[in-house]
Amino acid sequence: MQKIAEKIGAEAIRGGVHLSQRHDSAHKHVTGLAEYTDDIPEPAGTLHAYLGLSDRAHAEIVSMDLAAVRAAPGVIGVLTAADVPGHNDISPVGKHDDPLFATGKVEFHGQQMFAVIAETRDQARRAAKLAKVDYRDLPFVTDVAEAMKANYPFVTEPLKLERGEVEPAMAAAPHRLKGAMRVGGQDHFYLEGMIAFAVPGEDDEVTVYSSTQHPSEVQHMVAHVLGVPSNAVTIVVRRMGGGFGGKETQPNIFASVAAIAAKKWRRAVKLRPDRDDDMVATGKRHDFLNEYEVGFDDDGRILAVDGTFAARCGFSADLSGPVTDRALFHADNAYFYPAVRLRSKPMKTNTVSNTAFRGFGGPQGLIIAERIMEEIAYALGKDPLEVRRANFYGQGERNVTPYHQTVTDNIIDRVVDELVESTDYAARRQAVIDWNAKGGVIRKGIALTPVKFGISFTATWYNQAGALVHVYNDGSVHLNHGGTEMGQGLFTKVAQVVADVFQIDLDRVKITATTTAKVPNTSATAASSGSDLNGMAAENAAQQIKDRLIDFAAEKYSVDRDQVVFQPNAVLVGNRRVAFDDFVKEAYMARVHLSAAGFYKTPEIHWDRAAGKGRPFYYFAYGAAVSEVSVDTLTGEYVVDRTDILHDVGRSLNPAVDKGQVEGAFVQGMGWLTTEELWWDDKGRLRTHAPSTYKIPLAGDRPAIFNVRLAEWSVNKEPTIRRSKAVGEPPFMLGISVLEALSMAVASLAGYAECPRLDAPATPERVLRAMDRLAGREA
Ligand code: MTE
Ligand code: HPA
Ligand code: MOS
Repeated sequence: MQKIAEKIGAEAIRGGVHLSQRHDSAHKHVTGLAEYTDDIPEPAGTLHAYLGLSDRAHAEIVSMDLAAVRAAPGVIGVLTAADVPGHNDISPVGKHDDPLFATGKVEFHGQQMFAVIAETRDQARRAAKLAKVDYRDLPFVTDVAEAMKANYPFVTEPLKLERGEVEPAMAAAPHRLKGAMRVGGQDHFYLEGMIAFAVPGEDDEVTVYSSTQHPSEVQHMVAHVLGVPSNAVTIVVRRMGGGFGGKETQPNIFASVAAIAAKKWRRAVKLRPDRDDDMVATGKRHDFLNEYEVGFDDDGRILAVDGTFAARCGFSADLSGPVTDRALFHADNAYFYPAVRLRSKPMKTNTVSNTAFRGFGGPQGLIIAERIMEEIAYALGKDPLEVRRANFYGQGERNVTPYHQTVTDNIIDRVVDELVESTDYAARRQAVIDWNAKGGVIRKGIALTPVKFGISFTATWYNQAGALVHVYNDGSVHLNHGGTEMGQGLFTKVAQVVADVFQIDLDRVKITATTTAKVPNTSATAASSGSDLNGMAAENAAQQIKDRLIDFAAEKYSVDRDQVVFQPNAVLVGNRRVAFDDFVKEAYMARVHLSAAGFYKTPEIHWDRAAGKGRPFYYFAYGAAVSEVSVDTLTGEYVVDRTDILHDVGRSLNPAVDKGQVEGAFVQGMGWLTTEELWWDDKGRLRTHAPSTYKIPLAGDRPAIFNVRLAEWSVNKEPTIRRSKAVGEPPFMLGISVLEALSMAVASLAGYAECPRLDAPATPERVLRAMDRLAGREA
C-alpha cells in the first residue's frame, strides 16, 4: 500500500512509450534465467526423437531397411510416412510439395525420411545413423544457373512488374550497360536451434512447445499431419533464441514429428537436432543470380531498367513465391525508374527448400539497385553518391514505383543529407582517394548506401493481429497477443503500449507466452510488422477495458466521461483521486468486465498480383549508412574501420531496443555480404554446415567505430502505433555500404576506371581474385 501511495502523484509512469526501456528478458538472457523450450522441465517418461536424413541430392528410394534402427539400444520405435495419421504434407502454401517424410524419392541431400524415437536423445541420434537405404540416383542440379540451363521448372508462379515503355527508353538512352551479379544465400544461425516438445493430452489433444515465429501455422500443420481439427492442438512459445525468418515455416517439421510421436506413444516427446543437421535440413536465405540492363543519361540519371531475378528456391515452393516477389518490390530501392521491367525466376533446385530470412528477398533485389548506381558512377567517373542523389524518388513527381504505388512519405534526401554532413563524407572520400593514390599495400574504400523498405505483408490478409488483455481485480495486468518474441523486443514494446493506455508502470504488465489458445488465427511474427500489428491490437484491447472503466466511474460518481482521467498509477474521478488498484477493485465489485480481446487490420493496402499493381505497402522505412574499409591487397583480407548509420523508425516506441535492432541488422547484413558463404559439393552436400566452415561476424568483426543514430525527427505519416515505424528488417540492407566500400578499394588498383562487379559474399578470396584481375596480376 505504501508503494502504491508513493506512486500516486508521480509525474509519469515508469516505462511508457517512446522511452528507452531494457528488453524485458535482458537480465534473464545474461543470467541464464530465460526459459527456452529446451529448459522446460520434462515430465517423467519423456522420449526423444531424431530425424533420419537422406544422403543423396536426388534419388529414388528403392528400399529403406530400418531393422537396425529399431534394434538399437533405447529405441521405442520409428516413424515413416506410413505412420502419419493424417496427411504427410507440411507445405505452408498449400502446394502439397513438402512431405513430412520423403516417399518414393528424395529431392535434396538432408531431406527427412524417417524419425526414430528413443528413451534418450543420444540413443535416438545414434540409432538414426543405422538405416540402410538403397537409392537409385537421379540427375540433379544444385545451382540456379545450372537449373536454368537444365530447364528446371519454377517452384511457384513468377512475377512481372512493368511500368512505362522499356524498349524505346532503353534504345534512346545515351548510355547503356548490362551486368550480372550473384548474391549469396545465408544461414540464419539463430543461437537457439530448432526444437519442439510435444505433450499429449486426452482424446485428440496435444500441446506443442515450439520455437516458432508462427504458432498458428504450426498448429495448423500439426492438426493436418495428425488428421485432427485445429481446436485439438495448442502451440506455446515464450521466446525464441533468434528466428530471423528461419522459424517462420521450418519449425513445422519438428513440431509435426514430436506431436505424432507423442500421440502414438502417449508420452511427452522432444525433438532437438544438432546444429549440423539443423543447418543441413532447414531452409536458408535464397541466393540469387540477377541480370540487369540500364539506360542512363550523361548526368547518371536512369532512363530505363530491365532486370531478371533468378533464385535458388530448393526442391519445394515454401515461401519462395512471396520472397521472390519482395525481391522485385525492392529492386528500385529509393530510386525512380522512368521505364522498368522486372521479372522473377523462382527456380527449383535439388537443395533444401529456401525460406524467409530478414528482408525476405528484399535485400537480394535491392542490392541490384545499388550495383546499378555503382556501375553508372564508374562508367561516368562520378562519386556514386552523386548518381544516387540524381535518381532518388522525388516529392510529388518522379515518385511512382514499378508496382504503381506512389511514394508519399519520402524522406531519403534529408536522411542522406544529414548523414553526409555528420560523417564529413566528402572530405573523407577525398582522403581515401589520396591515400590510395600513394599506392601502398593497404587500400581503402568508402561508400554511402541508402535503404527504403516497404512495410506490410504482401499477402494482404496477413496484415491482421489479435490481443488479449486481462485486468485482474488486484490491479495487475496480463498481456497476451499473437506476436512472438525472438529477441527483437516485441514483448517489451507491446507491454509499453498497454502500460501507457492504463497509465501504469511497465512492471505491472505481465508479459506472457504466445499461445494459439488465447489468440487465434495469428500471422507469423515477420515482415517487421510485429509491433505495428500487435501493438495496435493490444492497444485496442486495453482501450476497450479503459472505456468500460470510464463508463463505470462516470455513472457511479455522476461525472462526465472526460472527468475520468487516467493519471500515473491512479485515476482522477472528478476531484477524487484513487490508486489504480483500488479503482480496479471498485470496478470489479460493480461487476465491470475487465478482460478484452483486441483486433487490428492494416488499412488501405491492396495488391493485384496478376496486374502487378496496387498499394502493397502501408508505408516505407528509410535509412542510410556510410562505411569505410581497409583492404590488404596481398591477401584480400579486410576490416571495417568505421560505419555511421542514420535510420528512420518514425517515433520510436523504445529507442534503446530499436537502436539494438539497427546495430544487429547491420552486422547481420554485413556478414551476409562478406564472410558468410554457403557451399555445396559435387554430390549436392552442403559442406558449410557448422561454425567451423560457416563464418558469421564475430564481435571483433564489427566496425571499429560504429555510430548508430535514429532519425529522431521522423514521425510516421500514417497513424501506426504511436506513429512508430517497423525496424526489424530495413537496416539489414545497410550492410551493402560495406560491400561497395570494398569494391572501391579494389577499384583503386585500376584507377577507378572499372566497376569491379564483386559478387556477394565478397569473401577475402573473392576480393583477392578481383584485385588480381584488375591489377593484371597472376592469380
Ligand atoms: N532480432 C532478434 N534479436 N532476433 C531475431 O530473430 N528477427 C528479425 C527482426 N529482428 C530477429 C530480430 C526479423 S527477420 C523480423 S521479420 C523481425 O525482427 C520480426 O519482429 P518484429 O516484427 O517484431 O520486428
Ligand atoms: N515477409 C515475411 N514473411 C512473410 C511475408 C512477407 O512479406 N509474406 C509471407 N510471409
Ligand atoms: Mo522476418 S524474414 O520477416 O521473419
